[in-house]
Amino acid sequence: MCNNLVLIGFMGSGKSTIGKELSTLLNYNFIDSDCFIEKKEGRKISEIFQTNGEEYFRNLEKEFIQSHRQNSYSIIATGGGMPIYNDITQMGYIIYLKADFNTIQKRIKDFHTRPLFADLNKAYALFLQRQKIYEKTCNLVIDANNPLQKILQDIMLQIKTN
Ligand code: S3P
Repeated sequence: MCNNLVLIGFMGSGKSTIGKELSTLLNYNFIDSDCFIEKKEGRKISEIFQTNGEEYFRNLEKEFIQSHRQNSYSIIATGGGMPIYNDITQMGYIIYLKADFNTIQKRIKDFHTRPLFADLNKAYALFLQRQKIYEKTCNLVIDANNPLQKILQDIMLQIKTN
């Protein structure tokens, strides 16, 4: 049985922070696709983009999906583009952390670690484009503008009743 929880959403929506907390609450493994890729490649995402380009990074994301398909009892925090370029529906129960662009902007302090957030106008256009895809892909939408504890509470309540 596939019983993973997969967190999706735009950059800065809180996937990693919430994923870690949830994994403690549920006693699940925590896997962050960006961290996994950085470890495997031995370099930062920004360096991968700079040296090899976005397409190369997207292939690394595909490899990540292949190698984590069979996981169980895991919380998987995905990179913001993973569900845009891939069918991730087999990976588990998909939770979309939906945050406004204002919230996201406030949360993202270091633009250098996120190559696709370097230009604010382009980031906003990407945000608008992606929202529909996140919504179509997910099993559950959670308001990620709320404080951390409220977000966790909402997720716990929903997954218990689903
Ligand atoms: C990306 C989001 C980033 C990272 C990469 C590309 C995207 O992850 O995977 O910079 O396409 O939205 P976060 O969503 O964790 O910032």
